[in-house]
Amino acid sequence: MILLNDEIISKENASINIEDRGYQFGDGVYEVIRIYDGCFFELEGHFERLVRSAKEIHIDLPFDQATFTKKVNELVERNNVSNGHLYMQVSRGVAPRNHPFPSKAEPVVVAYTKEYESNETPPPGKAMFTEDIRWLRCDIKSLNLLGNVLAKEESKKQGFDEAIFHRGEIVTEGSSTNVFMVKDSVLYTHPANQFILDGITRRAILRAAEDSGITTVEKAFSKSQLLESDEVFISSTTQEVRPIIEVSGNQIGSGTMGDVTALLQKEFKKRLPKADS
Ligand code: PDD
Repeated sequence: MILLNDEIISKENASINIEDRGYQFGDGVYEVIRIYDGCFFELEGHFERLVRSAKEIHIDLPFDQATFTKKVNELVERNNVSNGHLYMQVSRGVAPRNHPFPSKAEPVVVAYTKEYESNETPPPGKAMFTEDIRWLRCDIKSLNLLGNVLAKEESKKQGFDEAIFHRGEIVTEGSSTNVFMVKDSVLYTHPANQFILDGITRRAILRAAEDSGITTVEKAFSKSQLLESDEVFISSTTQEVRPIIEVSGNQIGSGTMGDVTALLQKEFKKRLPKADS
């Protein structure tokens, strides 16, 4: 079953108009929300980010928080999802193709769930650097993901697990993740500004780090600082806290998961929802 606007219907009965601006212009926003044990992780944070993204591109969301919460929970229940994620996108709507906003278009909402076979965090991975060629509003979770898609594909082709973007010397984020590094037991990540998406996982990690007495610094760092760091990891809804042990052929730290990463992985897992608690 999927959610189309305010109705939960079977996927087979759903159709998207070819003049949907999401389809023709990537004119919309989206969220990916993790489900653990049938419960959403940080649903409120995702809703607030969706509201913000929509506002930044001048889309009025056609639902409030209560309706959103009710509908997404209903979808998870109907699909009987235990571990997986929910994808939701909201486009500006359907109108004859023309760049300016249409005067009367209703936003189109689509959501579906995906069940995972396992809840295991992906194993330590390897990444490559790539120039960040994206636009200057990466804080908006927009449907336009071409820069991300091209970078991810290149990294995959070259046998890497992630592409780490840099603008000049400054490391921004991964193609679908945030990037952290640890140097002398201090945790660094790019500040949440227009150059990165302020990840829900990123925020949870910063909170977990502060609660664990780890000093956190939200400050841009360079490619060479990252290569000289003790530990690197990436974070996202789907990859959680994933160690990166090599970047563009350079070993990071000891070449295995570092202590701070291991601690944060554990602390992060402790914060995940459990149906019976
Ligand atoms: N991607 N940065 C980018 C560019 C992303 O696409 C994502 C998430 C993140 C991490 O955000 P969060 O912790 O809220 O998942 C950072 C999602 C999972 C995706 O597009 O599939």
